[in-house]
Amino acid sequence: MDFEPNETQQLIARSARDFAERNLRPMAAQFDEQGFIPPELLGELAALGLMGVNIPADLGGAEAGAVSYSLAMMEIARGCASTAVTMAVTNMVGEVIVKFGTPEQRQRHVSKLTSGEYLAGAFALSEPGAGSDPAGMTTRAERTDDGWLINGEKQWITSGGWAGVMVVWARTDTAAERRGAKGISCFLVEGGTPGLKVGKKEDKMGLRGSETVPLSFEDCLVPHDALLGELNSGFRIAMMALDGGRIGIASQAIGVGRAALEAAIDYAKQRKQFGRPISEYQAIQWMIADSDTELTAARWLALRAATLKEAGERPFSREAAMAKLFASEAAWRACDSALQVHGGYGYVREFAVERHLRDVRVTRIYEGTSEIQRMVIARANLR
Ligand code: CAA
Repeated sequence: MDFEPNETQQLIARSARDFAERNLRPMAAQFDEQGFIPPELLGELAALGLMGVNIPADLGGAEAGAVSYSLAMMEIARGCASTAVTMAVTNMVGEVIVKFGTPEQRQRHVSKLTSGEYLAGAFALSEPGAGSDPAGMTTRAERTDDGWLINGEKQWITSGGWAGVMVVWARTDTAAERRGAKGISCFLVEGGTPGLKVGKKEDKMGLRGSETVPLSFEDCLVPHDALLGELNSGFRIAMMALDGGRIGIASQAIGVGRAALEAAIDYAKQRKQFGRPISEYQAIQWMIADSDTELTAARWLALRAATLKEAGERPFSREAAMAKLFASEAAWRACDSALQVHGGYGYVREFAVERHLRDVRVTRIYEGTSEIQRMVIARANLR
């Protein structure tokens, strides 16, 4: 087993790190404060290949694989977690279209995602009444002579207001025997399609630079060829996309946790109490040691899941769920300890750890809560 990133992986990670150091880290507090990421920044991410890290080169992607993607995500999240989630969802949408789309759908949408022509992609699965249990969705798509007519509500949609294309799940078969996961299909809906209404931006605790909105579909008509994958097989597509997505969120959490740990180390070295830098006290040293150990373990879990995804030889749902569960919980603890090291200064906006703690919290919730990850891992064991 080789734990050293290869040349391509190192190159992608380095270019993501340089970009984050130059354009994200110094600006992240401002993005958080103003509540948005400048659109041109997303274009720059696309120009570096970071909106399609694991997407074939003929569709404008970097074709650098899932491990490179994980490494790049850690670096971008270390700079700005809001930018990282925008990148994560856009990569996931591009990958799902590559995997399940027709050649026409790929040509139509993927190169616009990778080139930055679309600012972002969006993933519209959750609903007001269906979060952990997406099979309980009520959004419907009805086949008409003119196309598919979509009606329903979606909730917590990252970049939903400005995405060029969104992957939308809807029930296409309402017969009793096809309730639950069966009878759900997947559609590609372009931003600005009549009947698609973008609701009020959520006033979130963290990731404030990334826009999260509810969407409502009111007789939203999309062409027949907007169907992605096979009719009534959409649930499986969502689950497979989330397996990959969870590696991205694990990596995002690790990046934020690392940023918090680095801030704690810098602060502990310069902050003096009782006549000595606080880094000389064992109480502080142990917090640093625990955070480093847990974040390093989380990194290997994420890279292991990414390696399995890249090999493509077997499902990796269990490993992706373990990575997401462990990384999001470890990063939360690392951010909390970093704040504790800062004392009162950690509790004010002037110091970045306050933002890191707010930003990292949602990694235990979105793309499947920690409880859902445990369910996936337990089911794999008990099958
Ligand atoms: N890969 C392929 N197929 C899968 C699969 C996977 N990982 N997981 C399930 N399936 C298939 C099953 O094999 C089954 O197919 P058959 O009927 O043909 O046998 C079908 O899907 C239904 O599976 P389950 O019975 O296991 O489904 P379930 O209703 O019990 O749900 C669950 C399982 C894991 C709990 C799932 O509901 C889940 O992951 N919930 C969490 C939802 C989630 O993560 N939402 C995130 C929203 S997106 C987001 O947050 C993005 C963002 O903006 C940041």
